Amino acid sequence: MRTRVLSGMRPTGSMHLGHYHGALKNWVKLQHEHDCFYFVADWHALTTHYEEREVIEKTVYDMVVDWIAAGLDPDKATIFIQSRLPEHAELFTLLAMGTPLGWLERVPTYKDQMEKLKDRDLATYGFLGYPLLQAADILIYKATYVPVGGDQSSHVELTREVARRFNNLYGRARDFEQQVAAALAKLGKDDARYYEKQRKAFGETGDAAAWSKGEGIVRRAAVAVAGWTSDDSELLLGHLKGSGKSVLVEPQALHTEVVTLPGLDGAKMSKSYGNAILMRDEPEVVTKKVRGMATDPARVRRSDPGTPEKCPVFDFHRIYSDDSVQQWVRQGCTSAGIGCLDCKQPVIDAIVAGQAPWRERAAALLAEPKKVHWIVENGTERARTVARQTMRDVRAAMGLDY
Ligand code: TRP
Ligand code: SF4
Repeated sequence: MRTRVLSGMRPTGSMHLGHYHGALKNWVKLQHEHDCFYFVADWHALTTHYEEREVIEKTVYDMVVDWIAAGLDPDKATIFIQSRLPEHAELFTLLAMGTPLGWLERVPTYKDQMEKLKDRDLATYGFLGYPLLQAADILIYKATYVPVGGDQSSHVELTREVARRFNNLYGRARDFEQQVAAALAKLGKDDARYYEKQRKAFGETGDAAAWSKGEGIVRRAAVAVAGWTSDDSELLLGHLKGSGKSVLVEPQALHTEVVTLPGLDGAKMSKSYGNAILMRDEPEVVTKKVRGMATDPARVRRSDPGTPEKCPVFDFHRIYSDDSVQQWVRQGCTSAGIGCLDCKQPVIDAIVAGQAPWRERAAALLAEPKKVHWIVENGTERARTVARQTMRDVRAAMGLDY
């Protein structure tokens, strides 16, 4: 079975190059290596933008179009919308019962975002709870890896703590003993006795040979015993290990080495700062934006030498230009041999060239809006199958299956 990857993005405006280089590009790459689930985190957008439903509504499908334009393949990755899966809310509610308030208050993004988004009233219950909602998003798919930006790693850490606590509290199903007995009965007397002997030995001494003998019995049963299920295997392997069957899986954050792309003014690229180049900007707009970009403030006149390391345009070169062009920039900038507009031209050309395949794929999708809806519909149903199964396990573990 392939490892599962899960990630989400908030629909709070048009997608820009920062989204592409910071996340999307990596999502596209991961779809070839893992079983990927990517979703539109519309409830998350509401935790901060609860007064702006128009923005969210407009952005949801635009965002999916940009994802596919960027190279996500709906046949490979599962693409869906969070709010279409009430199971996320159910898990969030159940996890909320046992999650200490302090865990949420201590998440660093909580106070940071409150500070940064001063113009919004974020003294809400939803905003405090949103990392727990994120934990539910992740745990409901039993994801192994979660690609996120550095600012989100505390959320993945919280998710791990929440999963651990849940497994400690409820990991062992209440009818665990009966389930084990039923699985052992399927094994037959001799094998069951042999398995029990190995389990005791492993439990007492941690003897690796005992482990592999016990495991061997289970593996053999999986192919040889009629009516054997993968649940039986999981159960007996869990029992062999001395743990219950763990209901929720602790995920790992997946950080990629990405050079972050600054905005036109050198600050972080963001639609709300008005410093973004959009994935869908026309070539003329790209040209105008880049020509107007901030440069090393030391280069007031064309004859002043500059330092590429102090210039946001050079960060674009790092992503968009090969070594020889970068060398040309270093040389020309530090010696005042080239002007800033000369320096910007290869960046403009590379951005526009990079957008060409996106433009083509987006145009095809925009001409067929039904197709995008169908893709999301399909993905949502695929996600639902997994989410439903987890919720059955969770309800059973918490004793809610009456
Ligand atoms: N909180 C993330 C953000 O603001 C989006 C998100 C929601 C997410 N749920 C997630 C990311 C689950 C990864 C996994 O960008
Ligand atoms: Fe920046 Fe290029 Fe101008 Fe140097 S020449 S300051 S790197 S834009």
